[in-house]
Amino acid sequence: MNPTLGNIKKIRLLFVCLGNICRSPAAEGIMAGIVEKNDLQDIIEVDSAGTSGWHEGDLPDERMRSHGEKRGYDFCSRARKFRRSDFDDFDYIIVMDQNNYTTVKSMASSPEQADKIHLMTDYAVQYSSLDEIPDPYYGGSSGFELVLDLLEDACEGLLQSIKKDYSLF
Ligand code: 4NP
Repeated sequence: MNPTLGNIKKIRLLFVCLGNICRSPAAEGIMAGIVEKNDLQDIIEVDSAGTSGWHEGDLPDERMRSHGEKRGYDFCSRARKFRRSDFDDFDYIIVMDQNNYTTVKSMASSPEQADKIHLMTDYAVQYSSLDEIPDPYYGGSSGFELVLDLLEDACEGLLQSIKKDYSLF
């Protein structure tokens, strides 16, 4: 059933990376801002998770938080590991790179679940030549800035895609 403004079934988005402390919490925070700016917070919900549980319970990486703050974001979600029940709880599972894609896909137990998995870069508008959001964890500042540029672009594209999928105009 498609949601309409009068008959709301929330559209739930889950962003997934490896550690859930750099890319996916940033995607979650950026998308939450876009959803709010478009007054869609009653319709679209966002969350994030990691394919590893290495940083379970942690705030996002300090470097990602401070690069985000300079752009007006407050990335403050707590890391958690991706779980099989996420396939039931979310409509879009949006992964940051090919490794995340392989890991999440291996946990899908039906074609319908597998169909929920999308690559973040598939929603890119300006940066459409990349096929991954590069992992910034072992790099320097420019890597974090690049990730934020890519995510801001892809989150705008994602909203357009959702609006089209659900006829939200
Ligand atoms: P993320 O980045 O997947 O974007 O959260 C990473 C965070 C932590 C590690 C690797 C990548 N790590 O090796 O702990």
